[in-house]
Amino acid sequence: MILTDQEVTYFVTTIKNSSPYDFSEYSEKSLKRRLQKILLDNNMDLIALINKLKTNKEFLEQTVKDITVNTTELFRDPLIWQTLKYRILPKFSENKTINIWHAGCSTGQEVYSMMILLNELDLLDKAKIFASDINTDALEAAKKGLYKYRFNIGYLDNFDKVIKENPFNYDEYNDVPYNKYFKIDKVSDSIIMNDFLKKKPIFRQHDLVKGENLYFAKFDLILCRNVIIYFKYSLQNKVFKLFQDHLYTNGYLVLGMHETMLGDIASRFDKKGQAYRKK
Ligand SMILES: C[S@@+](CC[C@H](N)C(=O)[O-])C[C@H]1O[C@@H](n2cnc3c(N)ncnc32)[C@H](O)[C@@H]1O
Repeated sequence: MILTDQEVTYFVTTIKNSSPYDFSEYSEKSLKRRLQKILLDNNMDLIALINKLKTNKEFLEQTVKDITVNTTELFRDPLIWQTLKYRILPKFSENKTINIWHAGCSTGQEVYSMMILLNELDLLDKAKIFASDINTDALEAAKKGLYKYRFNIGYLDNFDKVIKENPFNYDEYNDVPYNKYFKIDKVSDSIIMNDFLKKKPIFRQHDLVKGENLYFAKFDLILCRNVIIYFKYSLQNKVFKLFQDHLYTNGYLVLGMHETMLGDIASRFDKKGQAYRKK
C-alpha cells in the first residue's frame, strides 16, 4: 500500500489531537514505512484506521507503540563500547557519582551493556543509571531483562569484543564468564540478566518531543543512540539542546553510528567519532 504525504500528515494530526503524542517532527520517510506496516498488520485502510484511533484509546496507545522502532542489541556497535571502556568512562573514575541517562533505551540491552562495562571497570557502585523510552512495552521488557537466546547469539560475540578482548593489545584476554552477568538457558531459549543488574536502573516513560528532563539531575554521560535518526532536523536540534542543558561541562553525549550533530549547537561540543564532549 503506497501512502501520500498528505495521508501521513492526516494520521499524525489524528494522533496529535487524540493523545499526548506528537510525531509531526518525525522523519516522513520512516513514519510512512511504519504506517504502511501498521495498516498491513491490522488489515485496514487508512480511513478505517483513523476511525478506530479516534474511538479506541487502547488501539491508539498500541499504534503509538507500533510507530516506534525498537531494534537494539547487547553491546550494539562494539567500537563505541571500546571507546567508552578505554577513553570515556575512565575519565569519571575519580567522580563521587557518575550520572548516566539512556534516552530511548528500548528493551534495555544498551543499559545492561553499560552496567556490565561499569562493573568491569569497578565503577558500577558509584553510577546512577537512568533509562527512558516513549514505549512502555519496551520499558517493561527492559525491566525484565529477559531476551531470546538463539535469535540474539550475536550478543555473545559483542560481549567478547568489548569485555574479553583488547583491540589495542591482541595478547590480552580477560576470561570473564557470561554467567557473571546473565544466565543462558538453551532449553527455554533465553538470556536472563542477573538480579544485581536488573534492580539498578531507574526506568521511566519519557517523550523526548516534550523537551523535558524528567530526572531533575545533571548527567556525566547521555547515550541517545539510534533515536534521533527518526527525527527531523528541527526536533534533533531541540533534543541536542535539552542534552546540552543537562550535561555537566566535560560530560559526554553519545549518538548512534549513523547520527551526527549539525548546526550551531555542534560548536558547543568537541566531537570524536560518535562521542560529543560538552565544552
Ligand atoms: C532503535 S531503538 C534504539 C535503542 C538503543 N538506544 C540502541 O541504540 O540500541 C529507538 C528507541 O527510541 C524510542 N523513541 C522513539 N521516539 C521517542 C521519543 N519521542 N522519546 C523517547 N524515546 C523515543 C523508541 O521507542 C525506541 O525504543
